[in-house]
Amino acid sequence: MKQSISLADVLGEISVLVRPHFGKGRTAQYIPQLAAVDPSKFGMAVVTVRGEEYVTGDADEPFSAQSITKLFSLGLALNRIGDEVWTRVGKEPSGTPFNYLSQLEHEQGVPRNPFINPGALAVTDILLDVVAEPAKLVRDFMGMLATEPLVIDGEVAEGEIVTAHKNRAIANLMREFGTIQHDPEAVIAAYCRQCAITLTCRQLARAALPLAAGGFSPVVEETVFPQRLARRLNALLLTCGIYDSVGSFAYRVGLPAKSGVGGGIVAIVPGQAAVAVWSPELDRFGTSVVGAYALEHFSQLTNCSVL
Ligand code: DON
Repeated sequence: MKQSISLADVLGEISVLVRPHFGKGRTAQYIPQLAAVDPSKFGMAVVTVRGEEYVTGDADEPFSAQSITKLFSLGLALNRIGDEVWTRVGKEPSGTPFNYLSQLEHEQGVPRNPFINPGALAVTDILLDVVAEPAKLVRDFMGMLATEPLVIDGEVAEGEIVTAHKNRAIANLMREFGTIQHDPEAVIAAYCRQCAITLTCRQLARAALPLAAGGFSPVVEETVFPQRLARRLNALLLTCGIYDSVGSFAYRVGLPAKSGVGGGIVAIVPGQAAVAVWSPELDRFGTSVVGAYALEHFSQLTNCSVL
C-alpha cells in the first residue's frame, strides 16, 4: 500500500467520505433480527501482515457475519478433503443472486461456486461428514484466528431457520440431485447457525489475515492454509465473492472480498493487509452500500488494488 498519509489518517478520512452514502440502502429485511439493526452503524478495521491494527467507528461492535462465514467454511472443507470439494461445486461466477434457484435445476444441482447459497450448502454438507456441528467448527476456527472466542447468535439463527423457505427449496433440490447427502433440514439448520456467527470488524480482519499472508496468520503465528490454497481462495473471492455484482465491485475496489447481509465486507490486500468494514444498509445485491464506498476509498487512498 503506497499511501502518502498514515493508515490511521486514511480511516479517519474514509469515515468522513462515506457520510453522504447513509440512507441509500436497507437492512436485510428477510431475517427479522437483521432488519432491526441500527442502520447508522459504521466500523472499519485494517490489520496488516506486520500485525498492526487500525480501527475507526464501530469497529469493536459485534455484527452478524452471515455469508462472510462461507469463506471460512470453504477453507476448512478444502483443508479437510482437498480438491474433492470441486466434485460437488464449481468455481465460476454465477451471474445470479446468492439464493437463485432455477440455475441450479438447469445445472443438475451442481452449484456454480461455493459462495452462492447452494455452494455454501454443499460445503456444509461436506463438513457434516466430518463433524456433528459444522457451525461450531467454523465459529471456533474464526475465533482461533481472531484470538477471541466468538458466539453464534441463537436468535438470529432461529429467525433465519423459520424463514429459510428459499434455502430449503435449494437444499431439497440438491438432495434430489444428490449434491447434498444429509437431511436437507439438518443442512439448513447447520448453515443458518453458521451464518449467525457474530464478530467485530477487528476480529474479522484478524481472521482473514492469513489470506493476505500466504496462508500464515501473523496474529496467531501459525500456518492455517497452504500458500497455494490462500491464493486460490483469493481468486474465488475476486471472481465470486460479491455474487452478481462482483464485476462492478472489482471495477470499483479491485480487491478480493466477501460480503454478508449483516452488512459486513472483508477485503484482502495480498501481501499486505486484511480490511473489514461493517455498515448494515444493503444494496439490492445484498452488499453493504457504505461498506463498498469505504473500500473503494480505501483502495484509492492507499493505491492497493490487485488489478
Ligand atoms: O442464506 C442467507 O440468506 C443468509 N444467511 C446469508 C446470505 C448472505 O449473507 C448473502 N451475502 N450477501
